[in-house]
Amino acid sequence: MHKVICIDGPSGSGKSTTARAVAEREGVLFVDSGALYRIMTWRALEAGVDCRDAAAVAAFCKGVKVDFVVKGNRVAYEVDGEEPGDRIRTPEINANVSPVSAVPEVRAIVTGWLREMPKLGDIVVEGRDIGSVVYPDSPYRFYLDCDPDERARRRQKEDAGKGFVQTEAQVKASLLARDKIDSSRKTAPLKVPEGAIRIDTTHLSVAEVVDAIAKAAGV
Ligand code: DC
Repeated sequence: MHKVICIDGPSGSGKSTTARAVAEREGVLFVDSGALYRIMTWRALEAGVDCRDAAAVAAFCKGVKVDFVVKGNRVAYEVDGEEPGDRIRTPEINANVSPVSAVPEVRAIVTGWLREMPKLGDIVVEGRDIGSVVYPDSPYRFYLDCDPDERARRRQKEDAGKGFVQTEAQVKASLLARDKIDSSRKTAPLKVPEGAIRIDTTHLSVAEVVDAIAKAAGV
């Protein structure tokens, strides 16, 4: 059985940066679970589906096809033979991904995909419910937390690099709104998984967080 390292936490807590660094340093595959919910949202918006209509979203998402391809040390997602890239990182997707990811049928599809990934090798998966729902039996489960102002600062800088110019206050409002939906939804809410190691990253460098995870995971 392949090793599965789970990293959960709210938006901007450093999950993605940390998981990528763990993948690179430890030679395991990086898996971005949020990108799968973003792909569902992107396809739904493109098809004109109302993302607030759970039944319509559930019906539409059943037909979304994604191919999983190992590229370097990550599992890449291809839709119609192409990676979506930053098309799934727009403010419009940010505003619609939480309601889409709250739909139980969508979660069942994505969870099924994520549970297939260890066939590709050892993985580090980042998300919201990885250690609580997708891989509750993994011995390597981490929850990253961080002060909301610091999260907004990090995310604003990251988004600006992609050409999405917003103030820190706008970014903070958007990520707090997502946190609220993500942690209050009925199916697989964002929470600290029982038995997971909680790390507050507010005052830690990426290297320090990666060290803590690598040490605890024994990779
Ligand atoms: O990590 P991210 O910002 O790319 O995630 C996008 C959205 O997907 C976020 O609002 C919560 C949701 N998500 C989820 O519900 N479960 C996961 N395992 C990963 C992401």
